[in-house]
Amino acid sequence: MGHSEVSDTQEGLDNNGNVVFTESLAQAFFNTAEIDEANGIDPLIRSVGSDFSQATDVYTVGALRNLRFAGLVGGDVDEMDLIAIDIQRESDVGLGSLNETRRAIGLNPYSSFAELTSDPILQKNFEAIYGNVANVDLFMGGLAEKHASGAVVGPTFQKIIANQFEALRTGDRFFWLNQNFNPQLASAISSTTLGRHHQAKHRYHRHAPAKCFLTADG
Ligand code: HEM
Repeated sequence: MGHSEVSDTQEGLDNNGNVVFTESLAQAFFNTAEIDEANGIDPLIRSVGSDFSQATDVYTVGALRNLRFAGLVGGDVDEMDLIAIDIQRESDVGLGSLNETRRAIGLNPYSSFAELTSDPILQKNFEAIYGNVANVDLFMGGLAEKHASGAVVGPTFQKIIANQFEALRTGDRFFWLNQNFNPQLASAISSTTLGRHHQAKHRYHRHAPAKCFLTADG
């Protein structure tokens, strides 16, 4: 889902919210160290905490599909389409289809493309590619789903992500809820957010949103 949300540009902000640099993703791929040295990391952190992401959907910016390269033996380069790689990885690790996965996590399988997405263009394109909704793979199908209410992903990804994070923290003896902290410390930790941390510490206080990564109405 992250690959669908990446923007084609990134910016840096000063402490008054002014843009101090803008660079394309393609530029960022190739001169990150230079930019960081010239501007420091602070402008970038201010920007990524308040910038909009691209929507979570089946579309991805061009730089991730056309501008990634891997060196080949002999000096040649291989152009890599990151989304094609993601789809290939589904087979590599043996993931079930969208409907198989939905059944496995207690959701009803889709019986039509219209049930999967309300976007008529996507319905048609998916039908042309997959033929039957039962053939839709988990990655593309999960990205195509209507978003769950209040969420930036559809119900399948929502459930997978929630299950994984729950298992991760339940199994982590260092997670703060598993450490029997005293009530005062537990309450201080539970009210600590990344946005508040940015506001309270370092040089991000003026324009850092209290809820990092959420927009004012989000
Ligand atoms: C400019 C932005 C990004 C670039 C260039 C990038 C690039 C890559 C590359 C090259 C891989 C390995 C592909 C492979 O050979 O299997 C990868 C995997 C992955 N990326 Fe990204 N990525 C970006 C952003 C993100 C974001 C924003 C997220 C999540 C919020 C993310 C999540 C992941 C995950 C979970 C994998 C592992 C997938 C797997 O298990 O096969 N990526 N990414």
